[in-house]
Amino acid sequence: MLRTALTDRFSLTAPIVGAPMAGVAGGRLAAAVSAGGGLGMIGVGGAVSPEVIQAEADRARAGGKPYGIGLMAWVLERRPEQADAVISARPDLVSISFGDYGRWVGRFHDAGIPVVTQAGDVDAARAAAGHGVDLIVARGAEGGGHGHDRVGTLPLLQGVLAAVDVPVLAAGGIATARGLAAVLAAGAAGAWIGTALLACPEGDNTPAARKRIQAANETGTVYTRLFDVGRRIPWPREFGGRALANEFSRAWEGRDDELAADEQAQRQLADAQQQEDYDLGCLYAGQAVGLVTEERPATTLVTELAAGAEELLRRWS
Ligand SMILES: Cc1cc2nc3c(=O)[nH]c(=O)nc-3n(C[C@H](O)[C@H](O)[C@H](O)COP(=O)(O)O)c2cc1C
Repeated sequence: MLRTALTDRFSLTAPIVGAPMAGVAGGRLAAAVSAGGGLGMIGVGGAVSPEVIQAEADRARAGGKPYGIGLMAWVLERRPEQADAVISARPDLVSISFGDYGRWVGRFHDAGIPVVTQAGDVDAARAAAGHGVDLIVARGAEGGGHGHDRVGTLPLLQGVLAAVDVPVLAAGGIATARGLAAVLAAGAAGAWIGTALLACPEGDNTPAARKRIQAANETGTVYTRLFDVGRRIPWPREFGGRALANEFSRAWEGRDDELAADEQAQRQLADAQQQEDYDLGCLYAGQAVGLVTEERPATTLVTELAAGAEELLRRWS
């Protein structure tokens, strides 16, 4: 069994965290990741109520394994009740990313809940260490969903490992045993995986979305703000998201401001999303999407990633 600072701290058998993915990672996916020996996380989006947080947490907790909940710092400024709901749910880990997360660290620590945040460059990782977080995710530009696109995972991971003493998880582009072995060999305490889980049947995404994910290849993504602008989701400007490129992203490329004023295009996007029409609608995914070619239960995926990485690392030891 692979042992790292991550597995020791949370009594895991796989050095893997299932990324909190709003709209995809609910309690069911989190429990399935945890059942595979990793630490599954629930992703909480901007519109999620305290009641839903509690219900998803109950679902994750029912698996009897450690799990976590992921919040967005810019949302907490508008909806601090999400933080209260997480504190009363008592997960084993909370992640807070995207915005001024530092002011929340003490509150979660006072409640006995460890805190992790995602950093997209070395300075951000140093700042996270200064805020006293328990784990830092070095999250590279190839990752799916929101984040920064400044630095790729490998140069970022090397820089962050050299800069901080806090255990570091690697994220962005990791979807196979080879990827997991590589970041562990570099010194990461584990991998934080999102895109790799997008074709798991336990996710809250749709079967049509899972099919699209399996069909896409590694060149099929784009880093953009268009889908947030088009859906009027008030993400801070500094954060774009990596999504599957499609007709909508190609038509509006470089025209964020125009899209912000075009109500007809916004309606078209909203309709497409509702009708699961992903030629126009948004599907967040990272470059590892090219490695996701079949629907596989998350428990199996996590178990196999860890066993495969262990085997690869043994070959070199
Ligand atoms: C569909 C999707 C939704 C995401 N939602 C969130 C979220 O709600 N909160 C968060 O902190 N990160 C979110 N992320 C980013 C992940 O935490 C992580 O940075 C990313 O998935 C890692 O790269 P990978 O996709 O290559 O594994 C999301 C990613 C994806 C693909």
